[in-house]
Amino acid sequence: MKNREPVGVFDSGVGGISVLRELIAVMPCEDYLYLGDSLHAPYGTKSLEEVRSLTIGNVEKLLEYGAKSIVVACNTATSAAVAILRKKYPRLPLVGIEPAIKPAALAKPQSRIVVMATPMTVKLEKFKLLMKQYEGQAEIIPLPCPGLMEFVERGELHSVELERYLTELLGNVGGKIDAIVLGCTHYPFAREAIAEVAGKEVAIFDGGSGTAREMRRRLAEAGKLSDADSLGTVKFLNSRDTEEERKLCEFLLHC
Ligand code: DGL
Repeated sequence: MKNREPVGVFDSGVGGISVLRELIAVMPCEDYLYLGDSLHAPYGTKSLEEVRSLTIGNVEKLLEYGAKSIVVACNTATSAAVAILRKKYPRLPLVGIEPAIKPAALAKPQSRIVVMATPMTVKLEKFKLLMKQYEGQAEIIPLPCPGLMEFVERGELHSVELERYLTELLGNVGGKIDAIVLGCTHYPFAREAIAEVAGKEVAIFDGGSGTAREMRRRLAEAGKLSDADSLGTVKFLNSRDTEEERKLCEFLLHC
């Protein structure tokens, strides 16, 4: 038996389960340990220092539980702390997630792309640098979405309130939108509601599958891919340790 330790995955809450699903699709035989910090969610409206310290705490916890690698399944935590984590753990296979602006910009020349993300993600330098890279190829409009992750944390993926929230939010952008980038790992769970409000002709992108493929590449490079040949397991940990939370995690994994 080789490399049977779990892949550690974390987010500020349940949103990173959208990335976990992609990881399982790409590496079905790995075991996974998912840590949701729902007790401290949302991260996107906290201070940079708070998010950095919570992020480091999450990585430490996953390593204590024996994770062999770490996926930062949170755009906000990645923007705030991935550089610090890489310095702190230079030999650990560690992958973060960033808004999928590249595939959106390459899909259609000179399109108008709205990037939905947390207030912190769109404020940070990492995002501004990413935007700059594609400025010549597309019009990129950052759209902070305070309050949106809370719908997903409540398991509210379709509701009149969610539709009203999205209609107002996207209505404020004005003009024709070609593509939407879901720059927060909670938002893929609201993808259907977003598509209904935005219109079926608007292409929707997220960074989950690219992140999963990158983790597989990094594990292979480090010689840490599991040699198991049957389906792996998923274990959920959550800082809000309730039965309700566990049920929501299972529901989101399979919805
Ligand atoms: N899921 C997180 C992300 O990808 C953010 C949600 C939050 O504000 O905590 O950015």
